[in-house]
Amino acid sequence: MVAENESAKLAEAVLGHDDKDRATKTDVSNPDRDGSKYADPSGEKMKALVWMGKGDVRVEEVSKPALLEDKDVIIKVTGSTVCGSDVHLMRGVVVQVEKGDILGHEFCGVVESVGSAVTHLKPGDRVVNSFVVSCGECRFCKQKLTTACEKTNSSKFHEMLYGSRMGGIFGYSHFTGGFAGGQAEYVRVPLAEQNLKVLPKHIPFEKGIYLSDVLPTSYHAVCDTGVFEGDSVAVWGLGPIGLMACMWAFKRGAKRVIGIDNNWRTEFAKSRIPGLETINYTELPKTQSIPAKIHEMVPGGVDAAIEASGGEYAKGWSHKVEMALSLEQDTAEMVNEAIMSTRKFGRVGIIGDYTGYTNHFNIGSLMERGVRLVGCGQCPVQKYWDEIYQMVESGEVDPTMMVTHRFKLEDIDKAYKLQEKRGEGLVKCFVETRFSEPRAEGTPELTNL
Ligand SMILES: NC(=O)c1ccc[n+]([C@@H]2O[C@H](COP(=O)([O-])OP(=O)(O)OC[C@H]3O[C@@H](n4cnc5c(N)ncnc54)[C@H](O)[C@@H]3O)[C@@H](O)[C@H]2O)c1
Ligand SMILES: [Zn+2]
Ligand SMILES: [Zn+2]
Repeated sequence: MVAENESAKLAEAVLGHDDKDRATKTDVSNPDRDGSKYADPSGEKMKALVWMGKGDVRVEEVSKPALLEDKDVIIKVTGSTVCGSDVHLMRGVVVQVEKGDILGHEFCGVVESVGSAVTHLKPGDRVVNSFVVSCGECRFCKQKLTTACEKTNSSKFHEMLYGSRMGGIFGYSHFTGGFAGGQAEYVRVPLAEQNLKVLPKHIPFEKGIYLSDVLPTSYHAVCDTGVFEGDSVAVWGLGPIGLMACMWAFKRGAKRVIGIDNNWRTEFAKSRIPGLETINYTELPKTQSIPAKIHEMVPGGVDAAIEASGGEYAKGWSHKVEMALSLEQDTAEMVNEAIMSTRKFGRVGIIGDYTGYTNHFNIGSLMERGVRLVGCGQCPVQKYWDEIYQMVESGEVDPTMMVTHRFKLEDIDKAYKLQEKRGEGLVKCFVETRFSEPRAEGTPELTNL
């Protein structure tokens, strides 16, 4: 993977980095990349989580970011968290991440200062970000397909690898715009009116923050794959995304939902979602595959399957070897299982992150049995914001059902490692900073790591 990161950098140099026609300045992944331009003139320092190399993330002191453009906002971060996608970044699976990049795409905070063109936000507003950086004006943003934004990512390599470029993402490598992330005390939010949502005082940050990614992403997985009244559904991976996808599937009328994982998270999921059935595949007899188990549970197969684990988690030795040798970037195992577990003419959606090419893909089962395979893409957060916000505000959906821990920003490097190991009962954390409000009632107490 390190080799792939180096090759991607080389390719980008040859292709010519393209920051023309962008709606905002990209590739400002740490104010200290050029302090004279990107750092706040006050000289104030802040703590931030930076990527230092494969498997190496650290909390460092860096410069507070400056307002760079008239649509920018600087926010004082009051909360952030660690996503399964951050673990992919730490492990070096995502290309074009550079030493010193500030990570974190899910955060909330209080507006500190605003650029001259910002009229709908003011200092003191409580806000949550969308993990995507979108322009609001291109043809995709106009349809609220904001992660397909054509104006916020300068990576030519992205275009070469995928056919066309997706939009920018906070704290997620130069493959997605090179924006500094929010696992920090301050963050610059470009095109702020498009990429921040105001949270009224009565919504605690411990609930509001999950509007940035987990809630819309898991909802998108269910809507985009297609889950309907009376359906049976199977979900691979019971991390926060898979867990909440199970919750949404029931909410949309599924009659049976089966969650699949390889550890204690199956029990945790059952304890949070009444009626959920689970498979811990490490406990299946050696001769029984996951599709065979699912066909036993639901004769004929499920109506819809959702892959929510991620392509880097190879199971069998052949994929482990091929990935290690860069003969493929992702395993096809979970997607194959999902296809084979789905009924004829059923639907499979992929919301877990996949980065490139895969081998041993069961295209035969897909074609012959008429299974519809949907790449759900990175979630277009803004499409769902208002609808999900209403459900959180009314109490119909409580995002804290997945939150198991509270950490301090100073410990977030250790939280990455814990997240990677799926250790100590950690499903989803809330990471506080020196600017956080007092802990909301009913949410986990601080754990010092
Ligand atoms: N598309 C999007 O917009 C989007 C947004 C956020 C996260 N993601 C991706 O969604 C995935 C899940 O995110 P998360 O935060 O829940 O991550 P997570 O790492 O906490 O959860 C992944 C779960 O998958 C399980 N798993 C691993 N291999 C498995 C296998 N072979 N079969 C079944 N389960 C397996 C793990 O044990 C873990 O519990 C990640 O790949 C993440 O990058 C995508
Ligand atoms: Zn995420
Ligand atoms: Zn756009």
